[in-house]
This record gives sequence, C-alpha cells and structure tokens, in this order.
Amino acid sequence: MVNPLKEESTKKTQELENFLKDELIDKSQVQIPSGYRLVKKYALKPPFSYANILYDDEKSSYLYSVDEVKLNHEEIGIFENLYHLIEQSLESTDTVEENPNFDEQLDTVLKEHEKIFAGVSAVSMEKMKYYLRRDIAGFGLIDPLMHDINIEDVSCSGTDKSIYVWHRNYDSIPTNIIFRSEEKLNSFVSRIVFRAGKNISIAFPISDLALQGNHRISVLYQKEITPKGTSFTIRKFKEDPYTVIDLIDFGTIDLQIAAYLWMLIEEKMSFIIIGSTGSGKTTLLNAITGLVHPDHKIFSVEDVSEININHENWFTLVSRTGFGLSGEGEIGLYDLIKAGVRHRPDYIVVGEIRGSEAYVMFQAMATGHGGLCTMHADSLESAVKRLQQKPMDIPPAYVSLMNCALVVKRVKERATGQSARRVLNVSEIINANSSHAAFSWNPKSDFFDNNLQDSTLFKKVAESTGKGLQEVLEEYEKRKHILKWMSEHNIRDYKMVGEIIGKYYRDPESLMQKIDQGI
Ligand SMILES: Nc1ncnc2c1ncn2[C@@H]1O[C@H](COP(=O)(O)OP(=O)(O)OP(=O)(O)O)[C@@H](O)[C@H]1O
Ligand SMILES: [Mg+2]
Repeated sequence: MVNPLKEESTKKTQELENFLKDELIDKSQVQIPSGYRLVKKYALKPPFSYANILYDDEKSSYLYSVDEVKLNHEEIGIFENLYHLIEQSLESTDTVEENPNFDEQLDTVLKEHEKIFAGVSAVSMEKMKYYLRRDIAGFGLIDPLMHDINIEDVSCSGTDKSIYVWHRNYDSIPTNIIFRSEEKLNSFVSRIVFRAGKNISIAFPISDLALQGNHRISVLYQKEITPKGTSFTIRKFKEDPYTVIDLIDFGTIDLQIAAYLWMLIEEKMSFIIIGSTGSGKTTLLNAITGLVHPDHKIFSVEDVSEININHENWFTLVSRTGFGLSGEGEIGLYDLIKAGVRHRPDYIVVGEIRGSEAYVMFQAMATGHGGLCTMHADSLESAVKRLQQKPMDIPPAYVSLMNCALVVKRVKERATGQSARRVLNVSEIINANSSHAAFSWNPKSDFFDNNLQDSTLFKKVAESTGKGLQEVLEEYEKRKHILKWMSEHNIRDYKMVGEIIGKYYRDPESLMQKIDQGI
C-alpha cells in the first residue's frame, strides 16, 4: 500500500533537488543591465544568492550585482504573514543574538503555523525560509554582501543611491543594492543596531558600535546632522584574522620585518601603528599581538571589539557609552587602561588612541608595561606632533617610550594595478625629533630595504638579554627561518601560527630540529 505521507515527502524532496540543480546550473537567467558584461560570478549562499561582477567597457566601471532568487506574488503574501508571526514569537522569547540556533526556532514556529502554507511546494518553502533567515536573523537587504568574504566594507550614503562595497579584487565598486526609502533605511539601521543590544536615536545620532558577528558599524542617523539622511559604513569582521604569515604573503611586510618585530615583542617593547582610514592598522596590530609570548599577559582595550588573537592569558575590555543625555555611566578607554594597569599586564593593547587615554598608556609604558596601539595619521612626524598636542598631551621626554612606529598605507601594486597594503617604514623612535628607519619600502622594487646595522633597538635587546649583538642577529636569523618555514608550508591560520610561536618561545631547539628534519 502506498503511504501518502511518504509519497508526499518524496515528492517534496524531488522538487527541492530539481530546484537546487536548476538554480545551480542554470544561472543564464542573470539579468545583466545594458552596457555591462559579466566578468565573474560566484556563489554567496547557493542556491539562493550569487555575486556577479559586471564591467562596462565604455565607462570603464565595475558593478557588483547581487543575484538572488525571487519570490513570486503568492510567495510574497505567505512570506509576509510568516515574517510577522515569527517576529512576534521571537520577541516573546530571546533575541536572535542570544539564541543563535535560529533555524531550530524557525522550524518550531513554522510547525505551529502549518496551516498558513498548506499546499505550498517544498521549493517555495525553501525560498521563503531563505528570506526569513535573511531578514530576521541576518542583515536583510545587504545580507548577501555580508556573506562575501571578498568584501571588506559595505557603505551606504543614503536612499536611492547604490550601496558601495570595498572588494578585495576590484576596490571600491557600486552594487545593485539600493534602499528605496528613508523609512526602510532607518528601520534597517535601527533594527541591526537594536539586535546587537544597542540603541541609535535622534538624541544620539552618531554611533560607532559592534554588530552581531562583531562587524563594526559607523552610523550617522536621520537628518539631525547630515541633511542627506542616514548613512552607514560596516567594516566586516574576519572570523579568521590575518596573521603575520598572511601579511608576509600579501607583501605588506616581509620575513625580515616580521622576525624583527618578534624579537622586539619578546622584550616587551612598545609599538605604534600609524595609517589612514582602512589602511590596515587594526589588522597589523592584531597580527603583531599574535607574536607575544604565550605566558605574557595581554590587556586589550577598545571602543569596538576587533582584536582577535589566540592567546590564553588575554583580557579584553570594551568601552561603554553613557546613558541618557548626561552620558552618566560612561566608561571610556582612559578608565579601562587605568583599571587594566592594576592587573599588571605585560602588554597593554589599545585599539586606537585619540584622546586622554594616550597619556595613561604612556604612563603605563613608563612603568615597564609594553604598549601596542594604532593612531590615525599619515606619517610618523604628524603622529608624533599630535601625540604632544591636546588632548593627548604627551611630554616630549615620554615620546621615545614608544620604541617603534610602523606606517601602513594602501598602495597600488605596480604590476597588477590592484590595491595592496604596504608598511612604508618601520622606525625606531630615538626622541621626539628623530628616528632611525630600520626598514623602508621601496616602491620601485616592491622590496623592503633594511638598515639593521644601526638599529638602536637591537642594541637594546642585546643589553637587556646580556647577549652580544652578533648573538641577537643570529637569533633574528633563526626566527626568519621559522617564519619562512611557516609561510612555505602554508601555516597561516591564527591558531596554528600562535601554537608555533608559543612552541618556539618554550622550546626553540626542538622546534628548530623538527623543522630542519622536515617533520
Ligand atoms: N595587509 C592587508 N592585506 C589585505 N587586506 C588587509 C590588510 N590589512 C587590512 N586588510 C583588510 O582591510 C580592511 C580594513 O582593515 P583594518 O580594519 O585593519 O583597517 P584600519 O586601518 O584599522 O581601519 P580604520 O581606520 O577604519 O580603523 C579589513 O577588511 C581587512 O581585512
Ligand atoms: Mg582600525
């Protein structure tokens, strides 16, 4: 006897399979706007969403076109119904953020309301579920962009304007995604902010905060401060952060710079990373922090949590904005560093210094703590000048407590014309007016020239370890060797890199032996 339930279920599975197959194979239905040609396409959330990179030869411009499966008229009606039901039922339980298993919740609610979609095909159901996930637990209209690992930033400068993305291979390009009304844009922003447990309102229209998934958003809300209305930029968080090995592979630094930084980090020297917006400061800071001895205590302090390292002895604090108009209860970086110093960290890592917190950080460095931070400036000279002016107010005699400065910049690769990041120079700070360039990037050759012979910091390492300079240089060569080995063996994952670095600190001989024997 035929089991009708089973037959129905087999039919649904078959339908779904065909759908998935068609969607995956037949992407010729892509709508290409006139004037453009398809350069590249790849999957985002297959079989529901794909990225199409289009190029207009006449205008010499790219377009990032999101190709998403569409709901038909009937599906839209059911979807809207389900959307409201699920939203209501989620409101009465936890927020999505606290309850990461959205799919399970979705299935439970759908089961309760089976009647609404009786007779709907399995294919339609999957399409609707895609949209429910996207709009309730995900990032709505921009969700496909958030799934693209090639995208670094997503920015929206208002309604009726293309959302722009910063794409690893094509730089800044417009997308086919547009918020069509002020109301939709505002509700989208307040929704994703609210879901992260924060608030944005007309009373507090400027905000820089962490979203679900640790993505960082900067928002200007409504028309209070920008006549053009709400705009935002999202800096996407990398779950799998770049390590020094990645940065070597990208050519941002080289083996010599990485080995040099590693030598100095062991001696708890302090670093400042200087660069303009999006130049790669935080990424470099994170990678360098990954070189700290596993037993050393790291205290990181940030406005928005971005640092992500594999380190056991790591405490992380994030500042808090105040409540109400008086801003009561605010806990800024200044307070956090003060509190942090009491925990006797070996290293204090400050995401970005801007104000009075710089002073507390330098005080901490004066009492033997290592400091690592970034600062928004375009050169060492302008950074040193700003450090000494209000609100940072660092006394000139303190400036050299910051042992080393790295300037990072987004440049165009000569060979490919693509954008890349390079550390322009690594400078040893001698005093407020002079420094020694230990490494400098040569834009013509795309190599780094070194001047380690006159390195004052290597001399300092020799002094503090009681070794001769020659011995320090030998140790430096060993570290270059290890980094080279990691790079050649594609050991780049932050956990693995952390393990090898830790192993070398603890038992250098056995690691060197293993490497030399090719184990
Ligand atoms: N060396 C690099 N090579 C390739 N991509 C990089 C590199 N450094 C950073 N990126 C990417 O560039 C984006 C911006 O990097 P990051 O957040 O480090 O910049 P930033 O200078 O700290 O920016 P902001 O001024 O906004 O704080 C990130 O998506 C990151 O993954
Ligand atoms: Mg940064």
